[in-house]
Amino acid sequence: MKNFRRIGILTSGGDAPGMNAAVRAIARKARKQGVEAVGIIGGYAGLINEKLINLTSGAVSNVITKGGTFLYSDRCLEFKTEEGMAKAIETCKKNNIDAIIAIGGDGTFRGATDLAVHGIPTIGVTGTIDNDITATDYTVGFDTAMNTVVEILDKLRDTCESHARCNVVEVMGRDCGQIALKAGIAAGAMAVAIPEMPFNEEETIERIKSAKLKAKRGMLIVVSEGVFGTDENGNKVPYGELLQKKIEKETGIETKFARLAHIVRGGTPTLRDRLTASQMGIKAIDLILEGKSNLVVIEEDGKITSMDILFALTADRMYKNKLKEGDLDKFTPEQIEEMKALCEKRRAEIAELYDIINDIAL
Ligand code: F6P
Repeated sequence: MKNFRRIGILTSGGDAPGMNAAVRAIARKARKQGVEAVGIIGGYAGLINEKLINLTSGAVSNVITKGGTFLYSDRCLEFKTEEGMAKAIETCKKNNIDAIIAIGGDGTFRGATDLAVHGIPTIGVTGTIDNDITATDYTVGFDTAMNTVVEILDKLRDTCESHARCNVVEVMGRDCGQIALKAGIAAGAMAVAIPEMPFNEEETIERIKSAKLKAKRGMLIVVSEGVFGTDENGNKVPYGELLQKKIEKETGIETKFARLAHIVRGGTPTLRDRLTASQMGIKAIDLILEGKSNLVVIEEDGKITSMDILFALTADRMYKNKLKEGDLDKFTPEQIEEMKALCEKRRAEIAELYDIINDIAL
């Protein structure tokens, strides 16, 4: 086993509730193994600018309950440049950082592979509210985000019911509709629009009209932020507000619009996120100390395991139809089949849930 002196930990990209629990687990387990843990402040930018803190056991006390990331986060363009990378490597050398654990989403993992290429062993931990990383069944932060959305939808239902209104609610998720879909089902939404599935606007409006006839008063529609429509000037615009106007016009029901935006990203992490973050953190430090690199910690069928980062990123691009020429060249036909199967699994999961909405909406 390599003799590790210090492990750097960073959080990067959009913050997610539970990231702190992951940092805490990594720092504590590292110290138990006789390795120092260093927090890198502000993601990859902190690595470039040598912003480090010593993560003693006490330094990670009480962070498990906190939302956001106490290491702060950033989307760092400089890290993508040769100069930025050179400074990051210099920081590692100067501070005896022998390996890095990077917590975040796909952008974070691309940064991690770059570091590994430059000789710094790196492991990724999946943390983003979107649950949009194809390789893993679950990303840290997703459960808290869904619960936040359900709580808000429940509140909106109360007031919709009192005033016989409809409320169209836009939720985050980037190009992934999972927060909208799962929270929508759990909050009893009448329809959910997500980027992965075609949305039947006509049928939704008919559903609302028919609900009105049955004297239903409060109605909720959830729209994922990744769904767009076209306004009267031909511009591409977020679909939620368009739908709100259309529903009001065609059904005569007073309809409100709410964009939850970053509210969905904050708050105290749920048990699920604290637990999974702790498990993933432990797995990451174990892998590093075993001398592994270029892996991402994932959840697969209820188990915490790991996957090659390049495989994970390529499968992700395949799922999102973003494969570039040559992307698959590094993989065997068996691996490509594996990726296809993973994409199919994700598509089937979404389709199955989407059917539920239509089966039980009214
Ligand atoms: O990836 C997490 C996420 O919150 C997405 O749901 C959203 O599209 C994006 O980040 C927002 O990014 P920013 O915080 O940079 O506005």
